[in-house]
Amino acid sequence: MPSKEEVAGRKNFHVDTPMDTGGFYVRGSAHLDWGMKNRLSRIFNPDSGRTVMLAFDHGYLMGPTTGLERLDLNIRPLLPHVDCLMCTRGGLRTCIPPQTNKPVCLRVTAGATVLKDDMSDECVGVDIEDAARLNASAMAVQCYVGGACERQTLENLSRVINAGNRLGIATLGVTAVGKEMARDARYLGMASRVLAELGAHFVKTYFCEEGFEEVVAGCPVPIVIAGGKKIPEADALKMAWRAIDQGARGVDMGRNIFAARNPVAMAQAVRSIVHGAASPDEAHEMYQDTKSDNAKP
Ligand code: 5RP
Repeated sequence: MPSKEEVAGRKNFHVDTPMDTGGFYVRGSAHLDWGMKNRLSRIFNPDSGRTVMLAFDHGYLMGPTTGLERLDLNIRPLLPHVDCLMCTRGGLRTCIPPQTNKPVCLRVTAGATVLKDDMSDECVGVDIEDAARLNASAMAVQCYVGGACERQTLENLSRVINAGNRLGIATLGVTAVGKEMARDARYLGMASRVLAELGAHFVKTYFCEEGFEEVVAGCPVPIVIAGGKKIPEADALKMAWRAIDQGARGVDMGRNIFAARNPVAMAQAVRSIVHGAASPDEAHEMYQDTKSDNAKP
């Protein structure tokens, strides 16, 4: 029998019906090979099915952004509090101790900086052999759906997925949003779905106020949300909570953690939401109560 939405001619995402994951807890990954599943289960905690990824790849297009002036000093204190490191190969090799037993999601696209109006003119800058040499669990590819270089960035994604599938390394598709693009559920849902259909194993996109649960429901692989520009800590925690509540399987957060007044406390507070079912108020209280050595005065 058609649902009310179908009768009314609206799309129906069946948001109340969980997707059947077919025997493996990471959405859409049931039919992958052992190595790929093993890498995904390093990223997505097998108990909660979720992940706190720390994004600190910003230098590849922004240079030394606020909070990342010194990767060795800024990132190391955060390592115990996050599940996965999203970074460049330069940042990883120079500043992250190899004995850090955290999975790496390696930024493999390159070629654009913030000095250009159009940042979609990217290529794949890292060979699959180098990703394997760095023991990457996943590779991240920036995709500009609807952007000037849409085809090129989707081709980058496809090439990386093909190479990763040969070795069992997962691919994170990142829905980059150009200055002129809307960040609404219609666009984000479309872009996320395109990346999943092209074979991305998980997708990073932005949270949107309206309709985010439909973005999640329409994407057959896990969605992790980007933090975006730095906002007050209480607001960033609320956004993380709302995204998780509407089905996101984690966060891939950068500036809202490393540029917080107290980055360690912020990583712990985000973690309490993603894995611990804390409310935004509880997480913010925890943030305010936590003292740590790298807090800014
Ligand atoms: C842009 C990226 C960034 O380089 C970064 O990972 C974003 O993190 P945040 O927005 O939380 O600072 O992927 O699309």
